[in-house]
Amino acid sequence: MQQVIIDCDPGIDDALALEFAIKSKELDVLAITVVAGNAPVDIGVENAFKVLERCDRLDIPVYRGAEAPLKRSYVSAQDTHGMDGFGESEIIRRSTVHVQEETAEAFLANFFAKKREVGILALGPLTNIALALKSNQKLGQNMQRFVTMGGTYKSHGNCSPVAEYNYWCDPDAAKVVYETLDTLVEMVGLDVTREIVFSPNILEYCHRISPDTGDYLRKLTRFYFDFHWQYEHLLGCVINDPLAVAYYISPEICSGFESYTTVETTGMSIGQTLVDRYNFWQKEPNAKILETVNTKEFFTQFLTVLLDAPEATIASDLNLLKLG
Ligand code: BDR
Ligand code: CA
Repeated sequence: MQQVIIDCDPGIDDALALEFAIKSKELDVLAITVVAGNAPVDIGVENAFKVLERCDRLDIPVYRGAEAPLKRSYVSAQDTHGMDGFGESEIIRRSTVHVQEETAEAFLANFFAKKREVGILALGPLTNIALALKSNQKLGQNMQRFVTMGGTYKSHGNCSPVAEYNYWCDPDAAKVVYETLDTLVEMVGLDVTREIVFSPNILEYCHRISPDTGDYLRKLTRFYFDFHWQYEHLLGCVINDPLAVAYYISPEICSGFESYTTVETTGMSIGQTLVDRYNFWQKEPNAKILETVNTKEFFTQFLTVLLDAPEATIASDLNLLKLG
């Protein structure tokens, strides 16, 4: 079992990713740190608790992180995720468990003050990680692994022609992380996550296998479906963050290459991931950029966990129904 801390901005796809990670037998989620991103940080904290409540895992501590990016003005993605960050699903929180007193940045910096067999899976803007790194320069060296959902190599952006939301929201933090973390940054970007379309047929399938889970997924994704239809004429929604969980558990699900990478912080291309694949800058690779993904394997793993069903059943149904 791999121990991991999840830094996130829940967020519809973050909520799915958190549930996938928490319920997965391969991962032990030690803590959740929340950052301003899809929704303001306090809403994100509430949503993290909603997921923990749903998973009956209120024992996992939640830390509140940065309210705004390092330098830029904060722009949420509530147009995509709803004002409540949860697709305006009206899913409510019942528990009264409190967020931890320590900030997310302080928790991360202190936790990795010594070497740990624990990695970080970052599903939102990298502000908390950059702040923790400022106070603990050994952060990267002391963690087992660092996987980030963000950026884009060849695929077009989702906030500008060239920028993906997490890095566009806080490009300065993303740049700090790529340039100074001092451990390989494994980038699960739009090149691979755009392949992960949670379609109306998959949703219907979920409902057939587990009506309760199907109802929850319907509520959570309705707003996201509408957004994708309005902006991209796509039926369904792209669920970026759960792919980062699947890749964390099974790296062979994606393939890619190592390269020196940084992030643009100014001008029209702000937030763009600059991937020096052909080594113009003659710098040592600091990142692994993922390019291809086995979508069927992803959906098999994801639905097996979310629907609590036998893997063989899910795999054979996906084949028969030509899903995934
Ligand atoms: C990323 O931005 C957010 O909207 C999603 O939660 C995901 O982490 C995709 O660009
Ligand atoms: Ca996210």
